[in-house]
Amino acid sequence: MNKIKIAVLVSGGGTNLQALIDAEKSGIINSGKISLVLSDNANAYALTRANNAGIKTKVVLLKNCENKSDFEQKIINELKDNNIELIVLAGFMKILSKNFTNTFKDRIINVHPSLIPSFCGEGFYGLKVHEAALEKGVKVTGATVHIVNEIPDGGKILVQKAVDVLEGDTPEILQKRVMEQAEWIILPKATEILSKKLLGKE
Ligand code: GAR
Repeated sequence: MNKIKIAVLVSGGGTNLQALIDAEKSGIINSGKISLVLSDNANAYALTRANNAGIKTKVVLLKNCENKSDFEQKIINELKDNNIELIVLAGFMKILSKNFTNTFKDRIINVHPSLIPSFCGEGFYGLKVHEAALEKGVKVTGATVHIVNEIPDGGKILVQKAVDVLEGDTPEILQKRVMEQAEWIILPKATEILSKKLLGKE
């Protein structure tokens, strides 16, 4: 069966990447194949997860590039060389320019650890999102998978899942609950939905 070629862009631990790898193994992702894992951090544990799963990896470091646009161009070239059709941002900690998002229009998705439009946009990433949610005192948070456009966390929402905030939560405890109960479920789900849709267009 023909499958959509997926690249996963990562910067850190890669638990969302692991959820995608596991989902492909179990058949939750059936219309796409993770063909490349690209990191902007050479020490990302996500790279070990990719190697363990036998997936090709590539590291592109901003510090080895002339500027941000050169960095993005190197990533675009890598994605094109590998015939990538769908890009999944799974804990990728760089904001992408309009040039990048337009190059792969409606083919980039991101997982964000809150219910957008709360606690999102520039400056809201990783633990900071959960710190802000706790500071505000919300009783419900969650995760969102959305299409990536030039506005940080501003593209069309594809899937959301709510998660309760509990008495005594720390940012770390809340982050773990949001990952387990939302991110690791909705990211594979959205990846399959979009892969299936893109397959239909081929
Ligand atoms: C995840 O919680 C992801 O939603 C978040 O970073 C974490 C990465 O964890 N992404 C953002 O905040 C993007 N704005 P992981 O490397 O274990 O998947």
